[in-house]
Amino acid sequence: MKDINILSVETSCDETSIAIIKNGCEVVALTILTQMDTHANFGGVVPEIASRMHTENITMVLEETLKKSKMSVADVDAIAVTYAPGLVGSLLVGIEFAKTLALVYNKPLIAVNHTIGHIYANNIEHEISYPTLALIVSGGHTDLVILKSEKEIEVLGSTIDDSIGEVYDKVARVLNMPYPGGPNIERLAKSGKVTYDMPRPMDNDSYNFSYSGLKSYIINLVHNEKQRNHEIRFNDLAASFQVAAIDQLVRKVELAFQNLDIKKFILAGGVSANSYLREEMQKLCDKYHVLFHVPNKLYCTDNAAMIGCAAYPLYKAQKFADFTLNAESTSNLDNY
Ligand code: KG4
Ligand code: ZN
Repeated sequence: MKDINILSVETSCDETSIAIIKNGCEVVALTILTQMDTHANFGGVVPEIASRMHTENITMVLEETLKKSKMSVADVDAIAVTYAPGLVGSLLVGIEFAKTLALVYNKPLIAVNHTIGHIYANNIEHEISYPTLALIVSGGHTDLVILKSEKEIEVLGSTIDDSIGEVYDKVARVLNMPYPGGPNIERLAKSGKVTYDMPRPMDNDSYNFSYSGLKSYIINLVHNEKQRNHEIRFNDLAASFQVAAIDQLVRKVELAFQNLDIKKFILAGGVSANSYLREEMQKLCDKYHVLFHVPNKLYCTDNAAMIGCAAYPLYKAQKFADFTLNAESTSNLDNY
């Protein structure tokens, strides 16, 4: 069968990324230009700056990817682009760029959901086989789902308030660490001990998650200790937070293992780059004899390779978008 090469574009937040993916799993070339250092000056992503920087950099990111791949746009079979969820201004830069390439080179256009992209990052090392349980943990999502097939997702539970990634970023800010908070908290936690008691919400039979209580607890604790001039052991606090935050994920996945016939489990999304989370999930899967896969850390955070992987089943099904494609800030996993 002929190889299918998809050129994919991702600009939903603060990474400008373009990849060429062969047959939905092989990374021919990938470029990721992060704006992280710029946004760190503001403590988080500034949407207006993000879209402006995408516009400035996207052509260069394409040239870099083509150079690495030794291909031209004319050689690829389709152009894929993230259309939702994300920052509308940022998404529009990628969408208009992808539409232009599709029009000029007469290629089909494929609209990809970013969250589905995170799931498909798993295909790069181990092809996803269905059905499988999946936990998506990112700056925008905390979802436990069953992937029934390439086309069908059943959502078991989601966060009822903040996402886990959002809370990592907020807690980092309170502990005077720059954006993005996740990797910084993980680093700080390594030298700390679990000495602070933390709330353990959602200790029930629901598959939903809740993180706002943990966030408020830490903000109040730091505030109160500062007012009393008490010493705050930032590394112990980071370790205590991380264990409590991840324990909630582990408990919900374990609940699914106990209640449902689960044989395979995958992790996805930026927070799945966290080593402690990866280790705890591996231990849980060993205990229940469940096959566990998580993407290489490079493919956990935002990148265009995952978008090219997710575009492949849509290419096979000939599900192409037209030039009215627009950006959407939110999306529903049940109905992507
Ligand atoms: O998937 P992603 O790159 O963007 C979204 O789609 O949201 O996820 C970004 C989130 C941020 O909240 C970031 O702090 C978190 O993933 N993150 C981590 C780690 N690396 C990134 N959280 C915990 N530990 C990490 N090592
Ligand atoms: Zn993401």
